[in-house]
Formats: sequence, C-alpha cells, structure tokens
Amino acid sequence: MLYIVWKNRNRLGIPIIDEQHRGIVSTINSLYFFMRSGLDQKVLEPTINILKQSTIIHFETEEALISMAGYPGLREHRRLHEKLTKRIDNLSISSFESMDSDTVLKFLRGWWLGHINEEDRKYAPYVLKIEKDRK
Ligand SMILES: [Fe+2]
Repeated sequence: MLYIVWKNRNRLGIPIIDEQHRGIVSTINSLYFFMRSGLDQKVLEPTINILKQSTIIHFETEEALISMAGYPGLREHRRLHEKLTKRIDNLSISSFESMDSDTVLKFLRGWWLGHINEEDRKYAPYVLKIEKDRK
C-alpha cells in the first residue's frame, strides 16, 4: 500500500509545481516501502538524497515563480522553505534508525500535505494569473 495516495485535490493547477509535488510524494512513498520491506542502506541512502535534491529543486522553482508573480507573501513563504531545508539537511540513514522511521515519515507526510494544501494554495492564484496573462 502507498503511504500517501496522491489525489487530484492536491493539485494547484500549475503544471511544473504539481509535477514536482507529485515527485516528492513518490519519493516519500519509496522511503516508506523500503522501511516496510527492510531493504538495506543501498537504496535508503540514494532515496534520501533524491528527497533532499528534489526539495531544493522544487523550492527554487517555486520561489522563482512566486517572485515573478509578485506574491506578497514571498518572504514568509521562503522562511517556511528554509526551515524545512534545515531539517531535511540533517536527514540521514541514522535519523531513521535513531528517531524511528515512523516519526520521520509522519513528519514528512504531514509537512508536505499541509504545505501543499495550505501555504502553496495561498500563492496559486498569483502564479495562475501570470500564466494566464502569458498565453
Ligand atoms: Fe512552498
């Protein structure tokens, strides 16, 4: 079973953002799968690295878009990204061992679903507007 089932209602309607969000969710699902199936560090480490890298790529994309769109909450939004980046930076195989994997996975699921459906939803109309104007 998937840890997070991606639903259409998680979409913001901004193709590149939706695609990246979905990719991050997919990586979290892989982490869960590896934990459950007891697969070893060979897959865990690259998966954690993918999560870190795709988070950086995603935040860069999002911040560029919301800055272009003139979103007034840019600074605050960036601060939320910085906070997660710091936590993600510390993520390693040992955090899954020392903190217990459920805690880490629950944190990741809660953060991303909350962020996508609350914080990101706030900027969506601004980005959708510039996308529409560009057509
Ligand atoms: Fe965001």
